[in-house]
Amino acid sequence: MKTDTAPKQKQTPTRLADYTPPNFNIEAVSLDFDLNPKETTIRSQLTVTRLAPGPLVLDGEDITLKSVSLDGKTLKRSDYSLTQTQLILKDLPERSLIEIETVCNPSENSTLMGLYVSGGRFCTQCEAEGFRRITYYPDRPDVLSVFRVRLQADLKDYPYLLANGNMVESGALDGGQRHYAIWEDPFPKPAYLFALVAGEFDILEDSFTTMTGRDIPLTIYVDPGDASRAEYAMDSLKRSMKWDEEVFGREYDLDRFMIVAVRDFNFGAMENKGLNIFNSSLLLADAATATDMNFERIESVVAHEYFHNWTGNRITCRDWFQLCLKEGFTVFRDQEFSADQRDRAVQRIKDVKALRMRQFAEDAGPLSHPVRPSEYMKIDNFYTATIYEKGAELIRMLKTMLGEDDFRKGSDVYFERLDGTAATVEQFLESFEIATGRDLSQFMRWYEQAGTPELSVEVESPVNMPVSLTKITFTQKFSPASGQADKQPVIIPIRWQAIGDTGPITEPQLTLLKSKENAVSLPDMGEDFSLSILQDFSAPVILKTRQTSKDHLRLMGQDPNAFKRWEAGQTLARELIGTQAKAIESGQMPKVNKALRGYCQALGKTLDDVNFNSSFKALALTPPAATEIIQASETSDPIAVSLAGEWLSRAIGDTLHEDLLNLYHALSDEGTFSPDAHSAGRRALRNRCLSLLASRQDPVVAGLAIEQLGTATNMTDELAALMTLTKLGGKRVETSMTEFFEKWKNNPLVIDKWFSVQGMRKHDSGIEAIEALVNHSAYDPRNPNRVRSLIGSFAMANPHMFHAVDGSGYAFFTQQVLDMDSRNPQVAARLLGAYEVWRKLDAKRQGLIKAQLRHVIGAAPSKNVMEIANKTLGE
Ligand code: PHE
Ligand code: ZN
Repeated sequence: MKTDTAPKQKQTPTRLADYTPPNFNIEAVSLDFDLNPKETTIRSQLTVTRLAPGPLVLDGEDITLKSVSLDGKTLKRSDYSLTQTQLILKDLPERSLIEIETVCNPSENSTLMGLYVSGGRFCTQCEAEGFRRITYYPDRPDVLSVFRVRLQADLKDYPYLLANGNMVESGALDGGQRHYAIWEDPFPKPAYLFALVAGEFDILEDSFTTMTGRDIPLTIYVDPGDASRAEYAMDSLKRSMKWDEEVFGREYDLDRFMIVAVRDFNFGAMENKGLNIFNSSLLLADAATATDMNFERIESVVAHEYFHNWTGNRITCRDWFQLCLKEGFTVFRDQEFSADQRDRAVQRIKDVKALRMRQFAEDAGPLSHPVRPSEYMKIDNFYTATIYEKGAELIRMLKTMLGEDDFRKGSDVYFERLDGTAATVEQFLESFEIATGRDLSQFMRWYEQAGTPELSVEVESPVNMPVSLTKITFTQKFSPASGQADKQPVIIPIRWQAIGDTGPITEPQLTLLKSKENAVSLPDMGEDFSLSILQDFSAPVILKTRQTSKDHLRLMGQDPNAFKRWEAGQTLARELIGTQAKAIESGQMPKVNKALRGYCQALGKTLDDVNFNSSFKALALTPPAATEIIQASETSDPIAVSLAGEWLSRAIGDTLHEDLLNLYHALSDEGTFSPDAHSAGRRALRNRCLSLLASRQDPVVAGLAIEQLGTATNMTDELAALMTLTKLGGKRVETSMTEFFEKWKNNPLVIDKWFSVQGMRKHDSGIEAIEALVNHSAYDPRNPNRVRSLIGSFAMANPHMFHAVDGSGYAFFTQQVLDMDSRNPQVAARLLGAYEVWRKLDAKRQGLIKAQLRHVIGAAPSKNVMEIANKTLGE
């Protein structure tokens, strides 16, 4: 059907300040899908009631409108207006029944939004604005409705027909050729939580008995042959259900719970009500094909999506500016779940590492935005580390400030008061105010101000006033980034403690820094001490102190807070790498100094310390990544930084050679595989030893890696050996890569790993090697996992080639992003985020990247890519 206006993309942003509630409520939705890959017909019936004067605005994109009727009467083309993105009905009565028929083509849908086909199966992705690719509908999160869904499809190709809620009816059609199923979801939900799946699957079944004794069947749907690989996900699901009852008092609500794994998926996974859909890379695992990191991620993402049932589904977001309301809280919940299932200190270290790598980098660059942004062009671009990870940090600070009991009281009030609604961040905080009587108005600034605050600490040695006191002054500072000039002080919970040479000399303290500056006093302890500040990383800030390596070494050895022990080592390493990188840039030779020796010796002590588990030790032995160093300095040559990192690893490998080798042998394979935290920690430490040893280019170590590659009985060890070999370089790398490919060519998830190792390694033949991989028969540019494996790892983890000073890495990358953009703008825009680092690079590379960004803008890309390119360039 023809549209009223010519296709034109509006380039005006959506603003939080412009929010207006919907004019109509949708009492009920009934959807009827006649599923065919090339032409699917959707008949929708909406019972609408008026809430406010004005037209009914229905969103729609890339679908063909066949007919519209109002209360049984087919409307003429002049009765409504239709644009590229909207169907508008005016002068509707108080209550009416609207029926709409549309057609779409799932097999040609390469955006992976709306209804599409993956591996011959139908599936949907509707968050954030995908439902409008299925039918005309008020596609906004504050319109909640109960859905009834009827699916019909060919029986042979699509034996399973799934949708949200509970199945109420099913049966045969056309003498058994086709069949149908009807699903009802009694919980009102916005359209973004709608899902359907149809196809042939293997299933894994189990059940969970809830706290009130309800028996819930659990089913995971996977590719034929993969059922046993879903066992860990199923186990994680049951543990998540139990944990949410115990820790947040949240019980599951529907009669059944389903998870489906698909291979083509834009993000990680999706919390559709009662029917979670997962990227298969975050669901399938067994010892032979998945690494410990995969198991860990599966556990946390399964929990994350399950937890959304309350934080996201029962209480959803009023508008997309409130995205952190569901994502920040849910990430916090999954982090706490993992901490309880595994090791709390180790979990905190990993979460902080990820925060610094992704969120601090984002906040230090041109894409910096508040946890609750005030405007956007494409909401797809706001599924960011800031919304997710910083959003979770805010909830964590809230808990630190309120304490465990009051935090729980507040969350109970939240669930009680706002159940069944589409809420705002203000309403969330208000629930905690009601529960505790505290005023949280200042805390709201954390949501509104972009950028990472700096926390400085000054210590003045005791002066004899009446009594001898040490004065500690905390100061906060925001840099005026991202168009927000004058930022107000935020409330910063600071956990700290004074540590002497034999251990703590004060109790742990909690200071709430509310204004720009605040001083506390400490009675003279009569001994020298170092301050352990931000224990457990009690606030997402950048810490500035005058602490010396003596302080860091003392904390590494004596701090009772495991997080800070790790952190002290990281701080030392960051300084060592930073200094070394500058030296390399100016053409100097690496130097061994006292600080380096002290650091390596302290690591040696950590290795011997029986109080630490293997996971902690593996983390302590991992110096900060180049991204962290780059983001913390003014500008740098990324290759020099990465060489400096290699230099530090080599220094550790040299100094601790004996210890590392002994440990490597002592930690050898335990025999039967278990993915639990303890066994995973052993493997992590052992492989960390191997990697550090390999930084020495030692033939003995190459022998160990080759042997490990040949004898490994699990993917963690196999992949670690392969990566170590690629680091060592030489002819055997090619053979090992080829053998690995041949061995695993039938397992897509392992071949993704192969592509990512290819993307990360320094190929002798230069960029042509990566270009050849794009033309490899196993490379599929339509599959986001594969593209991310090769192109994503190339841009994020291959500094030598991506940042090649001749610009060849950038040129190749840009071309790949534009190619992806023609199919899948969402994934293309995410990839393009790799350029956000440009202002932190040297002048030459800044110029190269700016030229690339201008090229992207000139190529008339999608709105998604345009937004990222414009913002990154910032011109
Ligand atoms: N809501 C999903 C999650 O965080 C993420 C997602 C967003 C997935 C958009 C797909 C599309 O769990
Ligand atoms: Zn989420």
